[in-house]
Amino acid sequence: MSDKLWGGRFEKSTDEMINEFQASINFDKRMYREDIEGSMAHAKMLAAQGIITDDDAKKICAGLSDILKQIDADEFKFSVELEDIHMNIEAALTAAIGVAGGRLHTARSRNDQVALDTHLYMRRQVREVQRLILDLQMELIKAADKNRDVIFPGYTHLQRAQPILFAHHLLAYFCMLQRDWARFEGVHDRADIMPLGAGALAGTTFDIDREFVAHELNFSAIYSNSLDAVSDRDYLLEFLSAASIAMVHLSRLSEEIILWCSREFSFVELDDAHCTGSSMMPQKKNPDVPELVRGKTGRVIGHLMALLTTVKALPLAYNKDLQEDKEGVFDALDTLKFSLAVCAQIIAGMKVRRDNMRRAVEEDFSNATDLADYLVKKALPFRQAHEVSGKLVHRCIERGIYLKDLTLEEFKEFSPLFGADIHEAIKPETCVAARNSQGGTSYQQVNLQIIAAKDWIKAHGNDD
Ligand code: ARG
Repeated sequence: MSDKLWGGRFEKSTDEMINEFQASINFDKRMYREDIEGSMAHAKMLAAQGIITDDDAKKICAGLSDILKQIDADEFKFSVELEDIHMNIEAALTAAIGVAGGRLHTARSRNDQVALDTHLYMRRQVREVQRLILDLQMELIKAADKNRDVIFPGYTHLQRAQPILFAHHLLAYFCMLQRDWARFEGVHDRADIMPLGAGALAGTTFDIDREFVAHELNFSAIYSNSLDAVSDRDYLLEFLSAASIAMVHLSRLSEEIILWCSREFSFVELDDAHCTGSSMMPQKKNPDVPELVRGKTGRVIGHLMALLTTVKALPLAYNKDLQEDKEGVFDALDTLKFSLAVCAQIIAGMKVRRDNMRRAVEEDFSNATDLADYLVKKALPFRQAHEVSGKLVHRCIERGIYLKDLTLEEFKEFSPLFGADIHEAIKPETCVAARNSQGGTSYQQVNLQIIAAKDWIKAHGNDD
């Protein structure tokens, strides 16, 4: 005889290694609160429908709150023999309150139960993720605000391209995170659909009230097909894909920070509290934190690939393969939350070395486009202006000087259109201020971006 909750038709008990292989308790126990909330709502509904007595429902709810307290206080003993969080809690409930405990699972299967728990859990966690996104966005805005007038080179092909405001660069990450936030809003909406009542796959013979449970648990909608309700993992795939994209953003930011704090760039310095040293090389101060964020990104992308692969050829409805959804999702969640939080700290503690940034702009040719634009504004066709500027750059490189070092006479050798205002026109400040097209890097545009970013934070900061 098996001593399992489902042991009736079995003659032997489960092999010990098999028990361990199929148990999910070690990772699904983190959904204990959701499992208990779901069971309470289910018990109340069963009583309201006259499927169990009010007295049984009361006993069940009281027993479950007791178990919740025990787990919260770390006094609950989880057992691998009981497979998962659902059966661990149900067995403890029945041990505590007797036969009423055995009525809780009426009109329910673990298939719709685990779906419910995971929906509840993700719905809650996604709000946490969104809050952490806002925290990081706040730090980006603060850093942009503090460094409003700092100019550094913008790059294409990792070659200095045009002078831009450092704040403009930081705000590009704000925008990426804004889209991440919205993607998680979508994940929230898909997690906000109630699967309970699907039973194992086909619904139930009992006269249940799914609206009651949805209302009790504050769900916005109910799955309309029981097969879909127990086999849908789209909301987890959406979560993993939103998490992967967000991690890719953090990884790009990290990569830039790693470059910026290298000796070669020397654009920023990270706080000592956020770096580590080398056990051998005494001079080292390593940007391990952004390196790890960049490294962990691969892991999160891996979890997305894993779940896509798990689900891709599954027949309807529930298959045990689906238990494999959780470890990857939980790990992606932990990794993303941790990474968002550490990135916020890194940005908050990052010192901007504005003099080095300035030098990188001064001692280069990132103002060559502005030189060409100057001639275009004096009616020279852009192609010709480009050619003249290119020749001037070439001349400077030959002489080991920069455009600003040329005299007006030298400029005039290349085009009679150059006037006394040319030196002013190619100063980094002028170049930046002049890029005043909508969304450009000018002081005015960046100020507008900062205002809009702050407004957006205000409008989204108080989400439930
Ligand atoms: N631990 C299982 C999971 O995570 C719960 C559902 C099990 N259902 C079943 N019929 N074996 O998917």
